[in-house]
Amino acid sequence: MKVLITGGAGFIGSNFVYYMLEKHQDYQLICIDKLTYAGNMSTLKKAMESRNFTFYKADIADRQVIDEIFEKERPDVVVNFAAESHVDRSITNPGIFLETNVIGTQVLLEASKKYNVKRYHQVSTDEVYGDLPLERKDLFFTELTPLHTSSPYSASKASADLLTLAYFRTYGFPVTISRCSNNYGPFHFPEKLIPLMIVNALKEKSLPVYGDGKNVRDWLYVEDHCKAIDLIIHKGRVGEIYNVGGHNEKTNLEVVNEIISYLGKGTIRFVTDRAGHDRRYAIDPSKITNELGWFPETSFNKGIKITIDWYIQNQGWWEEILNGTYQEYYQKMYGSKA
Ligand code: NAD
Ligand code: DAU
Repeated sequence: MKVLITGGAGFIGSNFVYYMLEKHQDYQLICIDKLTYAGNMSTLKKAMESRNFTFYKADIADRQVIDEIFEKERPDVVVNFAAESHVDRSITNPGIFLETNVIGTQVLLEASKKYNVKRYHQVSTDEVYGDLPLERKDLFFTELTPLHTSSPYSASKASADLLTLAYFRTYGFPVTISRCSNNYGPFHFPEKLIPLMIVNALKEKSLPVYGDGKNVRDWLYVEDHCKAIDLIIHKGRVGEIYNVGGHNEKTNLEVVNEIISYLGKGTIRFVTDRAGHDRRYAIDPSKITNELGWFPETSFNKGIKITIDWYIQNQGWWEEILNGTYQEYYQKMYGSKA
């Protein structure tokens, strides 16, 4: 079996590469990544040593190059992780989100259809459902919750989902979609809440919490997301959407305080809120649990410790990132925040 993975040099894509190399040792993995600021070849260093892994530096929105790769590799399965993924960046620079997340998805769908891919899987997000009120703890996102996006990022991801479903309905092309909640774990780029707080605390910098810090996210250890995708591409029904999440809702303040308490250091600084900031995400995962037997295996208590330890032990990985264009980004995003 040949599985083509896009965005494999990023956070979840790289964790999926390592999960698949270990779990399916007879599979060939082909990785396509543009190596944007979020893609890092040092993340894939070990994978590059495997005979079962091939890497292409390419843009998923580049029709000609993608066609050439598909023509040569003829994958059986495509899993599309490649995306611009950070909400804050989508607020300051939305255009690239449409190019990669919408056009890139359509280019991949077209190539997959042309070369008779047996399954195209779109990695989507719970953000396509918008947000839930904080005071309604009884409400959860199901696969039938209407799309109601807030940011240019989530709007671009919802557009990609609609295109994916259109290829199923119009052409009978075999697709699946997963919509997962917030992931955390190794190789998470330090622009996102958990790795940014860990890295800042380790560097003795303040921890910038947006607004009142009461926004809620539903955290899932990244390996549990990888397991869900592996199950869906093998056993999921075509044309279906599967929500993935572990009923692990926490306010941002709770998460940051857990990091401070484990590290024994870190000072919170409340800063200006994110524009259009979604209040609460919460997934109802009963469909994937009932149909495919998926359930989250790593508790937050365990996962957050593994993650913090990983950042302590892999300082070189994130120091390299901090020494690049990251400083410019940090100044632009946080320099003017009150
Ligand atoms: P990430 O930003 O860490 O990685 C994205 C990867 O895609 C990078 O390696 C980057 O170089 C690559 N990429 C970007 N544009 C590209 C292009 N035009 N062509 C080829 N490669 C390109 O993102 P992530 O957090 O690993 O998210 C992966 C996917 O999972 C995204 O589709 C995201 O929407 C989705 N998702 C993320 C989360 C989360 O909590 N991080 C949760 C649910 C869904
Ligand atoms: O829900 C899935 C989504 O989770 C994915 O689709 C996105 O790709 C991923 O980035 C993530 O989006 P969020 O906006 O929820 O994640 P982020 O880590 O940016 O922020 C988490 C929460 O923490 C959010 O309420 C904003 C807040 N925050 C974030 C940062 C970076 C802060 O308070 N301070 C910060 O510095």
